[in-house]
Amino acid sequence: MVFVRAILFSFISLAVASPLQNLVLHEKMNAIPDGFTHNGPAAASTTLNLRINLASNNMAGLEDALFAVSTPDSAQYGQHLTKEEVEAFVAPKPDTVAAINSFLSANGLTAQTISPAGDWLSVSMPVSKANDLFGAQFSVFTNQANGQQTIRTMEYSIPASLVGHVELVHPTVTFPATFGVPRFTSPGVQAPSTTTALGGDAVPASCATTITPSCLQALYGIPATRATQSSNKLGVSGFIGQFAQNADLQTFLRAQRPDLVNTTFTLQTLDGGTNPQAASDAGLEANLDIQYTIGVASGVPTTFISVGSNVQDDALNGFLDIINFLLNETAPPQVLTTSYGQNENTISRALATQLCNAYMQRGARGTSILFASGDDGVAGSQMTRCTTFLPTFPSGCPFMTSVGAATGIGPEVAASLSSGGFSNFFARPAYQNSVMSSFLTKLGSTNAGKFNVDVALTDISAQGENVQIVSEGITGPINGTSCVSPIFASVVFLLNNRLIAAGKPPLRFLNPSCIALRVLQL
Ligand SMILES: *[C@@H]1O[C@H](CO)[C@@H](O)[C@H](O)[C@H]1NC(C)=O
Ligand SMILES: *[C@@H]1O[C@H](CO)[C@@H](O)[C@H](O)[C@H]1NC(C)=O
Ligand SMILES: *[C@@H]1O[C@H](CO)[C@@H](O)[C@H](O)[C@H]1NC(C)=O
Repeated sequence: MVFVRAILFSFISLAVASPLQNLVLHEKMNAIPDGFTHNGPAAASTTLNLRINLASNNMAGLEDALFAVSTPDSAQYGQHLTKEEVEAFVAPKPDTVAAINSFLSANGLTAQTISPAGDWLSVSMPVSKANDLFGAQFSVFTNQANGQQTIRTMEYSIPASLVGHVELVHPTVTFPATFGVPRFTSPGVQAPSTTTALGGDAVPASCATTITPSCLQALYGIPATRATQSSNKLGVSGFIGQFAQNADLQTFLRAQRPDLVNTTFTLQTLDGGTNPQAASDAGLEANLDIQYTIGVASGVPTTFISVGSNVQDDALNGFLDIINFLLNETAPPQVLTTSYGQNENTISRALATQLCNAYMQRGARGTSILFASGDDGVAGSQMTRCTTFLPTFPSGCPFMTSVGAATGIGPEVAASLSSGGFSNFFARPAYQNSVMSSFLTKLGSTNAGKFNVDVALTDISAQGENVQIVSEGITGPINGTSCVSPIFASVVFLLNNRLIAAGKPPLRFLNPSCIALRVLQL
């Protein structure tokens, strides 16, 4: 999570006089985000690698198609779209392609297509040219928390000829966010040499203070038997130099799942990602994510997708690259879990919308996309006392599943750390209507005025406190929604394993289907 407070974005279609061309203000930030200082204009010759998102020809049609294939009582249920069918909705129209091509060639620019549908382009140019073409003032800002310098502009415009054709240019007004990573909640202890017996139906008393795979099996009836359908894989996203260690995984499996010892993950890298294996390279987040997929999903092929830092200082570029990468695959993971995110108000609405649309595309193709909801409760990570609730992104995107944390084993209750609330960007999807109206009636006027009643997050929760992991050879507990996304990803995969074995379509974009009822039907 990131320590940046309210940023207001406005979308004003205001013609700004320009001697060069007719520019129209496109995105503007009203104040420098908290935590950043302005250090003056960026050097004119510095190269900017900008991404341009082009308007798609029929994103609304794709949304209808997503719900048609994901809603159990629909005639199209389970009939997921092919890569080509999705790309036909997402591709820019010919007049959009013509408008951007004439803009690029008139300005001596060459762009690379960075998404399979052709809706994202990448183009490099010096600061001086970007300032002219986009009516911007690219400047240097310093993130006071880590000293990192970044080049952004407080506003930018687009030529009138591109209005309606260009959704956004990035990085411009969205400042880089720093993802937080979990910490051991108390000093870790050396890995025990004894093994823990797999749980039966009775929940071991130790689960009140320490959550292990056997606790999860006992609490949720998760089978310990190996998955039989290995035709697909579970994807685990890794960012910001979080590396998953095989040695720690094996120590964890010896203690928690001796039957799975020597099971490991495959590595997929992009943007210069790596996964070095020295003990000091171990990342708590990555280890947690790998241990609670492999250790819970019992024999499901798991891929660790390590996104490197070739995307300058911008984590959202990493989010964009991993989803565009998966959109370009013909057999991508069936389930993707990501335990990273940031406050919704640190991203421009246009960028959040287009990232969310990319998740929609993957959902329509049949991937269950899960994101941890965040660890700062409804306040988000605000630096001052909160007066309004602050949702997280991507959890507020209605086309993926937001996973929150619960605690306690009798009864299980929501963990206070778990982020939730309501998105300020996205309209409430139909699948939330009935549950939201009964929730809001029950809520009455509690916290009125502190939130906007749009998309509610989170969608599902499970144990997310005192979750035992191993990192750098140390065994210790972790708290956070980061624990829950991999656990639930494993459950989804095991449900799919049974559905496929029974000749039924697997669960894909989960939210419109009632998961509990479908499980009972198995
Ligand atoms: C998609 O994958 C193909 C085949 O691997 C590759 O040639 C192409 O460059 C990729 N496209 C994008 C936009 O990454
Ligand atoms: C983690 O959760 C446990 C159980 O609720 C709690 O006792 C502990 O204080 C938490 N640790 C931190 C660092 O919040
Ligand atoms: C795991 O691999 C090691 C090294 O190859 C081998 O000695 C050991 O017997 C294996 N353990 C299990 C449980 O398969």
